[in-house]
Amino acid sequence: MAKTNSANRDIASTIHPYTNLKVHESEGPLVITEGDGVFVRDEDGKMYLEGLAGLWNASLGFSERRLAEAAYRQMLKLPFYHTFAHKSIDIGIELAEKLLSIAPAPMSKVFFVNSGSEANDTVVKLVWYYNNAAGRPRKKKIISRTKAYHGVTVASASLTGLPNNHRDFDLPIANILHVECPHFYRFGLPGETEEAFASRMADLLEKRILSEDPETVAAMIAEPIMGAGGVLLPPATYFEKIQAVLKKYEILFIADEVICGFGRTGEMWGSTTYGLEPDMITSAKGLSSGYLPIGAVMVSDAIYQSLVKQSEKIGMFSHGFTYSGHPVTSAVALETLKIYEQDDILAHVRRMAPRMQAGLRRFADHPLVGEVRGIGLIGAVELVADKPTRASFAPSEAVGPFLIKRAHHHGVILRALGDSIAFCPPLIIKEAEIDLMFERFALALDDTFAMVRERGLVESGLVPALSK
Ligand SMILES: Cc1ncc(COP(=O)(O)O)c(C=O)c1O
Repeated sequence: MAKTNSANRDIASTIHPYTNLKVHESEGPLVITEGDGVFVRDEDGKMYLEGLAGLWNASLGFSERRLAEAAYRQMLKLPFYHTFAHKSIDIGIELAEKLLSIAPAPMSKVFFVNSGSEANDTVVKLVWYYNNAAGRPRKKKIISRTKAYHGVTVASASLTGLPNNHRDFDLPIANILHVECPHFYRFGLPGETEEAFASRMADLLEKRILSEDPETVAAMIAEPIMGAGGVLLPPATYFEKIQAVLKKYEILFIADEVICGFGRTGEMWGSTTYGLEPDMITSAKGLSSGYLPIGAVMVSDAIYQSLVKQSEKIGMFSHGFTYSGHPVTSAVALETLKIYEQDDILAHVRRMAPRMQAGLRRFADHPLVGEVRGIGLIGAVELVADKPTRASFAPSEAVGPFLIKRAHHHGVILRALGDSIAFCPPLIIKEAEIDLMFERFALALDDTFAMVRERGLVESGLVPALSK
């Protein structure tokens, strides 16, 4: 296909995140120019249903005027001020109070950042600061999990448990450990129940802590649902058992709510859905429905008191971003939280969830589909080369990316995480739009099935299932 003028200008000017830059030079970008509800429009006028809410974040869709107006009003009133050196901003105070009032566990204070990565980088520093304040200079290791996603800055990328985030970036940094990924479908043993699997995960965690020396292990970080690792839901009883181990060795627990926060699972927080009792919480994305970059770190009182103690000793808490608590991003976030409340977005998610989950599960019998999983308005369909053995396709076959291209062709934007296809539409999505998302996905899935059979990538003799 001939590339548009703006596609050529993009190739000449821009480095794209999470993109094969070589392929991009020949294929160019999909240039999006407008948004309307759960749809976005490209420069040729083609409309796509945004099945991932952009990057799991545009919860209120792409045309919420109240957010634009909140930004405009704040721009006119006070476009910038900062929160360094005892300064504050009225709207930021209001936002902090609001966040503390809806937190899933008792939280004492909020520290504002600009992204999920900055939030997680901040908690790494706070964990170290906390243990230095407590006179435990050896207690510094932070446990994350294989397939976790916590961002891309140096410490956050180290927490992330995906090989490509480390490879040739000289990461992870010291003091970051990765334990087993709790994906029951992939890593459960034959005959093992989900509960027994969760117990095994907790046992392995405890063994790792003991082998490292508990006096050196400071914290564990976890997403309630592992997002970019493939939309992996925790197995039954997992967090209960994991948290019992952490408590035994005085290890802090950090919930990364960057995807789950603000309604995604049908509760305000993934922590509420899965019974997490964190000492710190990181959030971003849905906090502003993605309209402006903002994140928040919430900390327990014990953590906060350690910051007070250290800053008294050192003379100052020397951490902060120019845009920590920016008035315009704060105004948009506050308006977002108001809309969630006034429109009862949680009730809406709970009403839509059965349609969404039934829509996903309709694909469970398809010969290309190994596992279907999800909760609330998030889910995934994992493609496999061989259903009985659960064998995956070789990554070099790029089956997931092929499906995504076909999905674009059929008018739905989704995301391939390896061969798991992720669904995470705007929370405002309606039933007919959920149906449309799956109708379009079904076409892309059938195109993909035809392709893999043509290329001999699946067992011959499989009966094609039409994904009506
Ligand atoms: C769970 C989680 N944590 C952290 C991040 C990083 O957020 P950001 O891209 O805003 O730095 C993401 C981004 O997808 C995420 O999904």
